[in-house]
This record gives sequence, structure tokens and C-alpha cells, in this order.
Amino acid sequence: MPPPKLPQDSTQLDTWREGISSHSPEETIALAKNLARLLPENTTLGLYGDLGSGKTTFVRGLASAWAITTPVTSPTYAIFTIHDGPQRQLIHMDAYRLNAPSESDSLVLWDLLREPWVLVVEWPEKLGDRLPEKHWALTLTCNNEDTRHLKLTHCNTCP
Ligand SMILES: Nc1ncnc2c1ncn2[C@@H]1O[C@H](COP(=O)(O)OP(=O)(O)OP(=O)(O)O)[C@@H](O)[C@H]1O
Ligand SMILES: [Mg+2]
Repeated sequence: MPPPKLPQDSTQLDTWREGISSHSPEETIALAKNLARLLPENTTLGLYGDLGSGKTTFVRGLASAWAITTPVTSPTYAIFTIHDGPQRQLIHMDAYRLNAPSESDSLVLWDLLREPWVLVVEWPEKLGDRLPEKHWALTLTCNNEDTRHLKLTHCNTCP
């Protein structure tokens, strides 16, 4: 099934706010490539959604859009992985294993950022008040085995 067609103008963000269905991992990757073009530099993107909802798959699409060639795998044990690419530094964090937001303080993450960066966080709710106030949030919902619903649920730096 081809990826859903998205308008090529400023209404694209409205489409993301309304929510978009994906019917396969490949479609989720194609959708991530679309959002990658809309996401400003030096922005944090929180990916909300249950286990297996497609968060890491979505990050693979972002990485591909920014010509990052290092493999994107689940960084659960390392908490975060830095991918330096020609267009963006992608910091992929999986906060699932944090027991408290304060545990992220020791990661010295903010010292490692090099502009233009994008910080993408799986399980951002685990960061509590450590999640930057200015961020975008995408919520992924499992509808059935292969269908996911992706919706931009928060965006306080959107145009
Ligand atoms: N439409 C879809 N979009 C994304 N993944 C899908 C879709 N349909 C099926 N899948 C499958 O769902 C799984 C998603 O796994 P993924 O690791 O991306 O989830 P996750 O949200 O990162 O999970 P976790 O919380 O464990 O890190 C993969 O096995 C993928 O093949
Ligand atoms: Mg994951």
C-alpha cells in the first residue's frame, strides 16, 4: 500500500494534528520522513506510545530523512545514542528504564548536543519535568497488528 498522500504546503502540520494512519512499518518510516522536513532544528520530539507502537521504527525514518547511515536500534540499555549526520545530530533517547526523572541529570546530555540537533525521546513521560518545556509530541496508538495512528499532540514551537 502506498504511503498516504500529504499536501505539500503549510497545511501539513494540520494533517499531523488531525492524525494519520499507518498500515505498515514502511508507511511509518515514510511518514517520519515527512515530519522530519517539518521539524525545526534544535528541537525535542517526544514519542508517546505503548510497547511496540512503532516509536523506534519512526526514529529510523527520521534518521533516513537526515541521511544518517548508522543503524537505529532501541537504546533502552544505553538510555541514549548519538547519531552524527550531515544534516542533523540525532540524539535518540529511550527513557523507559529511568526510575526517576532525576536519573537523567547524570547523562550530561545537554553538554553533548551540537547544533543543528534534534533530540527524540521514547517514553518522554519518564523524564517528567526534565522534558524541555518547548517540545513537540507525537502519540502513536496501536489499532491492530499492523495499523498505527500517529498524531501530533503537542507543539508549542509550531508556526
Ligand atoms: N504500521 C506500523 N508502524 C510501525 N510498526 C509496525 C507497524 N505495523 C507493525 N509494526 C511492527 O510493530 C513493531 C514496532 O516496534 P518498535 O520497536 O518500533 O516499537 P516501539 O514503540 O519502539 O517499542 P518499545 O516501547 O518497546 O521501544 C515492529 O515489530 C514493527 O514491525
Ligand atoms: Mg523503541
